[in-house]
Amino acid sequence: MNAQDFEFISSLLKRRAGLILTADKMYLLESRLAPLARKEGLASIDDLVRVVRSRSEERLIADVVDAMTTNETFFFRDKTPFEHLKDGIFPALSQARRGSRIRIWCAASSTGQEPYSIAMMLDQNPAMTGGVPVEIVATDISERVLERARAGLYTQFEVQRGLPIQMLMHYFTKQDDQWRLSERIRSQVSFRKLNLMESMAGLGKFDVVFCRNVLIYFDGPTKSDVLGRIAAQTNANGYLLLGAAETVIGVSTAFEAQHDRRGVYKVAQKGVRAA
Ligand SMILES: C[S@@+](CC[C@H](N)C(=O)[O-])C[C@H]1O[C@@H](n2cnc3c(N)ncnc32)[C@H](O)[C@@H]1O
Repeated sequence: MNAQDFEFISSLLKRRAGLILTADKMYLLESRLAPLARKEGLASIDDLVRVVRSRSEERLIADVVDAMTTNETFFFRDKTPFEHLKDGIFPALSQARRGSRIRIWCAASSTGQEPYSIAMMLDQNPAMTGGVPVEIVATDISERVLERARAGLYTQFEVQRGLPIQMLMHYFTKQDDQWRLSERIRSQVSFRKLNLMESMAGLGKFDVVFCRNVLIYFDGPTKSDVLGRIAAQTNANGYLLLGAAETVIGVSTAFEAQHDRRGVYKVAQKGVRAA
């Protein structure tokens, strides 16, 4: 791919999805766009870029963005966020939200392992929220991963990553060489397409936001903007959980670090201010 084509695709990804693609990631473009070029009946990535440039077709642009997302995820990823939910966040919210409900948002949920981990954890121990009902909303920019998430169908490799064997036996049934999550757990998560670059207001307000392992793909101003807008969707005393390599420190003052709980942030009381 020549330098102009690379520049065209990387600025399209930045504009559309906030994704930063540096020149050293050229190999990613090649490995991820080649299958799309084939699917479109085109001979090469160069041809694909030419078609995208000349037609500006929304569907094809969305497919290019989708193909360039990194969808790595697994059940109970990093473990501690789920322990923080159980030991600190749910006990606090079960008091604060008594008589109402607790709303959780997984803001870049990929193929669904993160929201389903929360749903299974709650199903195993409903007393965790002191009887307060929980609603789980999960969103992603990629229609491809959302479809997989809704189906709740996972490979042997995927169910071997992070999922305790007792949960596999209890909540999944074997379907050919894959595993299907029970309808009861699937129905507890509602999946919607949402680009974090666009308005989040339609989702309503949440008590807990999981926004894990997506900010790492954005630049500083984009992280700050996204965090500010997530804060606006978070109830007073609400929580944000980030991935192990992410922080709000030096990026946004919309959330405050919880020093006793790494990776957990509380919405700042004084409204939203970018750092
Ligand atoms: C690495 S996965 C993280 C999945 C899960 N949160 C976890 O930590 O295991 C990142 C996800 O972010 C999604 N993503 C990337 N850019 C996005 C954007 N602008 N808006 C919404 N989702 C985005 C990708 O499609 C991908 O599924």
